[in-house]
Amino acid sequence: MSETVRIVLVGLGNVNLGLIKILIDKKKAIAEQYNTRFNIVGVVDSSGMAVSEKGFAYEDLVNLKYNKGKVNEMTGFLPKAPELIADCITADLLIDASPVNLTPGNPGLQLIKRAIEKGWHVVFANKAPLVLAFDQLMALAQQHKTSIRYSATVCGGLPVVNVLKRDLKLASLSSLHGVFNATSNFVLQELEKGVAVEEAIKEAQKIGAAETDPTLDISGQDTANKLYLIMKSFSDFDGSIKDIEVEGIEKITAEQVSKAAKVNTQIKLVASAYKKENQWKLEVKPTTVAADSFIGSCKGWEMGIEIKSDLYESISFKNYEADPRGTSAAVLRDMIDIQHQQVTLRMKNTNKGK
Ligand SMILES: NC(=O)c1ccc[n+]([C@@H]2O[C@H](COP(=O)([O-])OP(=O)(O)OC[C@H]3O[C@@H](n4cnc5c(N)ncnc54)[C@H](OP(=O)(O)O)[C@@H]3O)[C@@H](O)[C@H]2O)c1
Repeated sequence: MSETVRIVLVGLGNVNLGLIKILIDKKKAIAEQYNTRFNIVGVVDSSGMAVSEKGFAYEDLVNLKYNKGKVNEMTGFLPKAPELIADCITADLLIDASPVNLTPGNPGLQLIKRAIEKGWHVVFANKAPLVLAFDQLMALAQQHKTSIRYSATVCGGLPVVNVLKRDLKLASLSSLHGVFNATSNFVLQELEKGVAVEEAIKEAQKIGAAETDPTLDISGQDTANKLYLIMKSFSDFDGSIKDIEVEGIEKITAEQVSKAAKVNTQIKLVASAYKKENQWKLEVKPTTVAADSFIGSCKGWEMGIEIKSDLYESISFKNYEADPRGTSAAVLRDMIDIQHQQVTLRMKNTNKGK
């Protein structure tokens, strides 16, 4: 029989609805390959929270949002602050796919901290709590023996964080460059075709790829958030998000993009990290690159990263993600990873007791 993992979804937008749809599509494979069933026992949206001891039907949640419904219309709605959800239901795992809110008093951060204190594991698609309190959340998780995963926060389905942490063991980062925001990359591509920025953003919103607040994409802040999370995960960088110099693509014109293309170059919103006088220098800015370079080859809905390190020389990889499904899948891979880790831990403890 499958093991049941009780989960709470914070946010019921593109990413978490995509996750529910994958849970429906892959229910059998999840049970057969991972011996697991994910039971959604709590949900939060902008209207509040609802809980269910026996769990919500996946289809009911999809239908609710398809019909533009809100959580406060559901059976199980609790008229309390959503930050208290960890005190209202028993669960194993929380998935945060709520909008980015970088204000220090962000109630979402309180919600996450309470969940960790209750022993819940956390998977993030939302970067904000990690950008606001990376070290604090990691320390809290360690204290309460819970796991945090966040591969979906950096370039959606592209496994940047996982590959760096798992596969580049013992390497010291020398430098990295990347295109981390598909919406702004798409906007630059559309500009070259003569499409207005506003139209390109509307298209990105229509397919669910833009941030809830698309100024985060265009201003370079979303790219900076991702650069920060990569550096916190895979380097000795110990600065703050404020140490990143950020310039967005707001001032880039169609003329500049076309002129660049005529001489086989491309303007890209590039995130870079390199050492200057032994100090990390982190920046996000529009940069002209050769069209046949790796960064130049990241077109439209593609995101990519080029990493140089002492052990692995140069590694580059990219994805094409014109849909939030890859991000939803990244959330699921982290959920499965945590579940697998818990099962292994329990088996070890059982064997120790023998
Ligand atoms: N879309 C992507 O391709 C992508 C890729 C990587 C990472 N992400 C990250 O994933 C997160 C979610 O993105 P999304 O595209 O799913 O956003 P979205 O479609 O705008 O959905 C956001 C959801 O969060 C709910 N919400 C709003 N305020 C809230 C609050 N204060 N507390 C709890 N829930 C709240 C919304 O409620 P209502 O339903 O009531 O409006 C909605 O259900 C964001 O942090 C984003 O940066 C997204």
